[in-house]
Amino acid sequence: MPSILNADRNDIQGEISKIAGVSDFIHLDIMDDIFVPNMSWNFDAASEIIRDTPIGIDAHLMVVDVDRIAIEYAEAGAASVTIHAEASLSISSTLKALRKRGVRSGLAIKPATEIEFYANLIDDIDMFLIMTVEPGYGGQKFMSEMMEKVGRTRSIIGSRPIWLQVDGGISMETISIAREAGADTFVAGSAVFSAPDPAEMVKNLRHLATSVQ
Ligand code: DX5
Ligand code: ZN
Repeated sequence: MPSILNADRNDIQGEISKIAGVSDFIHLDIMDDIFVPNMSWNFDAASEIIRDTPIGIDAHLMVVDVDRIAIEYAEAGAASVTIHAEASLSISSTLKALRKRGVRSGLAIKPATEIEFYANLIDDIDMFLIMTVEPGYGGQKFMSEMMEKVGRTRSIIGSRPIWLQVDGGISMETISIAREAGADTFVAGSAVFSAPDPAEMVKNLRHLATSVQ
């Protein structure tokens, strides 16, 4: 799914329309300049994007006070809301509250955080997000050393219908590596929006992510 973090902020709907026909979701990165050293959209601007976008929004919340803010995003109409384990004070109850509102519940961890601490929450989770860069910016280098963690997460998931997302540095060069490690949901920002034809890039990435190799 495309991340619009580095898309043209002056024409977000124009940018989304380039890839809407070929994307299942749009990944929306929310940053507060506290949990990560960068700021993206405030809640009003993000709500407007959620309201005006014809496909589901996958909100990735990189913010403190996330247990309160996650519910606001659920009520604003996001299809999926992902909270960071490092920012939440009540992970299980927030994930449950998201589901109660009909929203997919996601749990993200930063590169230095181990997944095993959170394995006991698995029954509350619709998607794990294993960060493959330090959260905060688009256009960073994919951390292939995270692939072992992706593999361990895949084992923890077992046969449950939980998605395993990777985010950061996903491109034509790295998507197969993440897929082979066990990921099944891929966020790509700069690879899509710096391509001459973003929709074509989404299709090419999906082909690599789903074709039998
Ligand atoms: C980073 C964000 C990512 C970012 C990905 O903190 O969570 O979603 O937009 O951008 P690329 O694909 O350029 O690494
Ligand atoms: Zn993200």
